[in-house]
Amino acid sequence: MTDADAPLAALTGFGPRGGLRPIRTFRRRAGRLRPRHRDALTRLWPRYGVPLPEEPGPLDLTALFEREAPVVLEIGSGMGEATAEMAARDPGRNYLAVEVHTPGVANLLALIEERGLTNVRIAYADAVELVRDRLPEECLDAVHAFFPDPWPKARHHKRRLIQPERVALLRSRLVPGGILHCATDWTEYAEWMLATLSADPELVNAYDGFAPRPAHRPVTRFELRGLRAGRTIYDLIFVRRTSVLSTPAPAPPRDANWRPDEHRDTMDRL
Ligand SMILES: C[S@@+](CC[C@H](N)C(=O)[O-])C[C@H]1O[C@@H](n2cnc3c(N)ncnc32)[C@H](O)[C@@H]1O
Repeated sequence: MTDADAPLAALTGFGPRGGLRPIRTFRRRAGRLRPRHRDALTRLWPRYGVPLPEEPGPLDLTALFEREAPVVLEIGSGMGEATAEMAARDPGRNYLAVEVHTPGVANLLALIEERGLTNVRIAYADAVELVRDRLPEECLDAVHAFFPDPWPKARHHKRRLIQPERVALLRSRLVPGGILHCATDWTEYAEWMLATLSADPELVNAYDGFAPRPAHRPVTRFELRGLRAGRTIYDLIFVRRTSVLSTPAPAPPRDANWRPDEHRDTMDRL
């Protein structure tokens, strides 16, 4: 636990535990908490943070968002700019962000207030555990995993979020026809994702290989780093089958004409 984690760990109870250490998809990053972030955690966590009591059991998503609407799970929301942007543009759906980086949690809380968003909640938790222990089957309209850590060294590949067992877990929480949308700027991980997602018997690729960049995905902070380094961005959009024998839901419209300058506003803010 870093110094920045202590205030949120005290509020949420999430932190190092005894027993066998699971293989995590993240490494704790040291981060400073600015006064704006401390203030956001203290004032806004009770309103927009997801309470995860010790007792096991699924979250009541309707109660959490105070309305019934399709839910999008945003795994590893980072500093939260892209999550806030998507939620603002998509008021008909609820966005459940999950992040372990305390300054990122705090920043998204501040953005929720600044932008007057009512359809965003954030969990301070390991997303794998949250999905496994707190989300019932078929409760999600979409899962987003945008620029998950690539873990490039072979001995770390087991830490990658996109693994057969973790994909099966995520897919089980999607409604039939729900979307698993991943993006990465790491070519070898992109190919690994494509092979892993294609091998899942209940997922169907909405495109032939990688997806054209969808206009609804704002440029994220990590994506911008990749673009500045000259890396290629890959999107992967898979649909949960509606039944074992059925074909996938119709693919989202192609958006092959996307150009980075269409997202200049977002990029300028990052
Ligand atoms: C490379 S960053 C990408 C952040 C953001 N999606 C973006 O594109 O700017 C990956 C993020 O995922 C978070 N993360 C990794 N594994 C996670 C997990 N199991 N649960 C929650 N967050 C996780 C990390 O803390 C980090 O903020």
